[in-house]
Amino acid sequence: MRKKIALIGAGQIGQILAMLAAQKEMGDITVLDVPDYVGPAKGKALDLMEMAPHGNYDANISGTSDYKDIEGSDVVIITAGKPRQAGMTREDLLNTNIEIIKKVANGVKEYAPDAFCIVLTNPLDAMVYVFHKVTGFPKHQVIGMAGTLDTARYRSFLAMELGVSVADISGTVLGGHGPTMVPLPRLTTIGGVPLTEIADQDLIDRVVDRTRKAGTEIVQLFGKGSAFFSPALSAIVIAESYLKDKKRVLPCAALCEGEYGVNGLFIGVPCLISAQGMEKIFEINLAEDEKAMLQTTLEAVQKTIDECNAQGI
Ligand code: LAC
Repeated sequence: MRKKIALIGAGQIGQILAMLAAQKEMGDITVLDVPDYVGPAKGKALDLMEMAPHGNYDANISGTSDYKDIEGSDVVIITAGKPRQAGMTREDLLNTNIEIIKKVANGVKEYAPDAFCIVLTNPLDAMVYVFHKVTGFPKHQVIGMAGTLDTARYRSFLAMELGVSVADISGTVLGGHGPTMVPLPRLTTIGGVPLTEIADQDLIDRVVDRTRKAGTEIVQLFGKGSAFFSPALSAIVIAESYLKDKKRVLPCAALCEGEYGVNGLFIGVPCLISAQGMEKIFEINLAEDEKAMLQTTLEAVQKTIDECNAQGI
């Protein structure tokens, strides 16, 4: 029997998620949105069914606004919520998106209680916290997609600056999904060669800074809305690792209970993603300056969590 993928949110990211999941034959796909947007959800699903003959994939893709239709899903990917517009921070979305995520969490809890859930809605670290709190799901079943995207951006910018294949760049970005995130140049390698041995500090600083502001750079270019291709593929990579038990090590927002000295917050850390879900968090021995940067990002995330808790989450 085919796996079942539920995509909550039929917007820009949701539609690319549906296309990628179909092309990769990850399973049958249900795209859910609110009743006011169910027409586009159904239309996008139908369009993808009609793409199948030339796309060479077999998948049933349908649109709905009824949570019953996600019953028994293996994976749920949540993009529902308002995206950023030019001039907005991710935190500006907090109040609107808390309410949306609460509703989504209740729907998923009722109809797909065993699904591996990947949250993309911003402000990411707070929304995955809210989703986890409302569902009460075990921590291995809920993660936030952010570090996988932030690391992809970091690798892309390094490849562009150094003129090397992006495939040979290995590195990671820790922390919150915002301007305080912590790329780790000290641990980045280019085909096994340490980045710090082949790049000067100016180049590294430029790439780190651009990575931290990468989401905003796209929002400014679009004027309306935020990135969709790279966030969607980042979530698909995580979902595939779960469905195929690939055991990828990917930076995701995971619930830390002691790791990195963090307790009770979702924060970007390297995670083993297997058929168990978020099976394990890998800890890194950080240098003093990296620890200080992690502290700054933790404070930024804690601030949004305090606001969520003040609203009775
Ligand atoms: C970004 C949004 C998806 O970083 O948070 O582009």
